Amino acid sequence: MAEIIDGKALSKSIRAEVKEQVETLVQETGKTPHLVVVLVGEDPASQSYVKAKQRACERAGIKSTLLRKDDTIKEEELVQLVEELNQDEAVHGILVQLPLPDHIDANRVIDTIEQNKDVDGFHPLNIAALQIGTPGILPATPKGILTMLESVGIDLQGKKALIVGRSNIVGKPVLQLLLRKHATVTIAHSRTKDLKKECLEADVLIAAVGRANMITGDMIKPGAVVIDVGVNRVDGKLVGDVDFEAAKDVASHITPVPGGVGPMTIASLLQNTIECFETLVK
Ligand code: GUN
Repeated sequence: MAEIIDGKALSKSIRAEVKEQVETLVQETGKTPHLVVVLVGEDPASQSYVKAKQRACERAGIKSTLLRKDDTIKEEELVQLVEELNQDEAVHGILVQLPLPDHIDANRVIDTIEQNKDVDGFHPLNIAALQIGTPGILPATPKGILTMLESVGIDLQGKKALIVGRSNIVGKPVLQLLLRKHATVTIAHSRTKDLKKECLEADVLIAAVGRANMITGDMIKPGAVVIDVGVNRVDGKLVGDVDFEAAKDVASHITPVPGGVGPMTIASLLQNTIECFETLVK
């Protein structure tokens, strides 16, 4: 039976560390780190993610403000709002929750966020820094995944890693982070010819597609490390992209859903907020 990588417990210890850092920073600077979250529309999943992010901020002593906007907001108005937040010295982090309504160009909105306030690490300059390997804010979910792998002592050097999913938020940045750790990395996606064959070759398998239980037990190489980024709702229950019950008997390490990658995304967001604060204020 695989070792379960407990994202919830690891997230808790990181959040406690962040809380201590915040206390020190407040003492040193007389200022409190402040994250502003912009939520457009009423998407239930986005509302619940934003609520979790805000609660985590409050517990860590980070001030958080939620700006809710109607989904009829014009792109221009949203860009202007971000520009105002860029100028505001009392704001150290800006997070525009995605997805945005179809009539808004999300890339334009993200491009507007000041690089040093981009707690998501989605700004093109932060993405470029990730690619080149220079300092920058790392996207929260990929950062959390790497922290989890490190926490259980996985040495990635020379390992074959397969990422299933090529999103800008997870697949592509995870590729860069695994490369930094000297893994041999492949990305599979909806047009990949033989997904099972690719999966069976992977020492580290990262599933980030958003399809419930699509990675079955017979697709996992015995002893592989399995990271499940999927968050899917089936009959009101949260399940990942990996069939956990079958996979846990084949893998050496596996992350559960819920309680795996999700809490780590939030812990990384708090770390990023502190990093932005330090760059801006210290
Ligand atoms: N939507 C889903 N995940 C994320 C995230 O990490 N950041 C933002 N801003 N929106 C998201």
